Amino acid sequence: MNQIELFAPASVANVSCGFDVLGFCLDPIGDIMRISKTNTPGVTIGNVSGQTLPKDPQKNVASVAGLALLKETSSEFGFQIDIDKKIKPGSGIGSSAASAAGAVFGINELLGNPYSSKELIRFAMAGEAIASGAAHADNLAPVLLGGFTLVRSNETLDVIKLPNPTELVATVIHPKIELKTLHSRSILKPTIPLNKAIEQWGNLGAFVSALYTDDYDLLSRSMEDKVIEPYRAMLIPKFEETRQAALKAGALGSGISGSGPSIFALSKGRQTAEKVGIAMESIYKNLNLDYQLHLSKINTEGIKILDRS
Ligand code: HSE
Repeated sequence: MNQIELFAPASVANVSCGFDVLGFCLDPIGDIMRISKTNTPGVTIGNVSGQTLPKDPQKNVASVAGLALLKETSSEFGFQIDIDKKIKPGSGIGSSAASAAGAVFGINELLGNPYSSKELIRFAMAGEAIASGAAHADNLAPVLLGGFTLVRSNETLDVIKLPNPTELVATVIHPKIELKTLHSRSILKPTIPLNKAIEQWGNLGAFVSALYTDDYDLLSRSMEDKVIEPYRAMLIPKFEETRQAALKAGALGSGISGSGPSIFALSKGRQTAEKVGIAMESIYKNLNLDYQLHLSKINTEGIKILDRS
C-alpha cells in the first residue's frame, strides 16, 4: 500500500462534567486526509484546502504528530499529508485532534499497523500539544477509538472506551468565531474549591454509570459544569440563552463543546435533537453572526478509511 485516504471526524470534549478527560466522536463533520509514501524520510505537508494551515512540518499539527511516531519507528520512506480541512481551527469540535489523529492513523496503516489505536494516542498528543499548549487526549481518544472515551490519566494515557446508549443524538451549533484553546485555557484558575470538585466527580461518575446502564435520566442530571463553564461562558455569544433553549426543547444536557465557541447538546432520539437544533438556532438567528448547525449520532467507529491503493 502506498497511499491511504481517510475521514478524520470532529469530536466533543469535556461533555460538561469531564474537563480534559471525557469526549465523544461526531459523525458527519470531519477532514479528508490523504497520506502517501514518499522517498524522502520525514513528514511533509502537501496540498491543503478548506483552511489555511502551516506548511512547516514543525508547526503543522498533523506533521508534528506524524514525526513523533516516526521518531520511535524505523521507516525507510517518508510521508506526505494532504488535507482537505473541513473542521475550522478554533471551533471547539476537535479540529487539531482530527488532524493529529488522522496523520498517525494513516502513517500507521502505511507502515503495516505496528501500533494499536490506543497506542497511537501518545503520538497524536504531540500534535495536540502544539495546538493547545497542553497535552490532553479528550478529543484524540474518541477520534481514534470511536464512541465515548474516558481518559483516566493524561500522563500515562490510561484510556477507556465507554459504551454508547444507542438513542443519543448530538446537536452542535458552531458560531463562526475563532476561539483558540490556548486562550480559553489561559483564563481558567489552577485550583477549584473542594465543594465544586465533589460535585464534579459525582457528576462524572454518574455520567459514566449512565452510559453503561442506558439511564438517560441519570445522564441528564450529570451534565453539569460548575468548574469550567462559569469562566468560559463569557467568551461565547449568548451561551447561557442557547443552552437554556436547548434544555427547554428537550435536550438531556447542553454545554460548551471542548473549549468553545461551539455549543453542544445531547438528546434522546433524532426528533428531539432536531427540535433542540431549531431552539438553538432561534437564539443565533437574531445575532449578526454566522453559524453552522450539525446533527450527529455518536460515531462509534472513529476514523474511517475511504480508499487505499
Ligand atoms: N479539554 C480541552 C479544553 C478540549 O477544554 O481545553 C479542547 O481542546
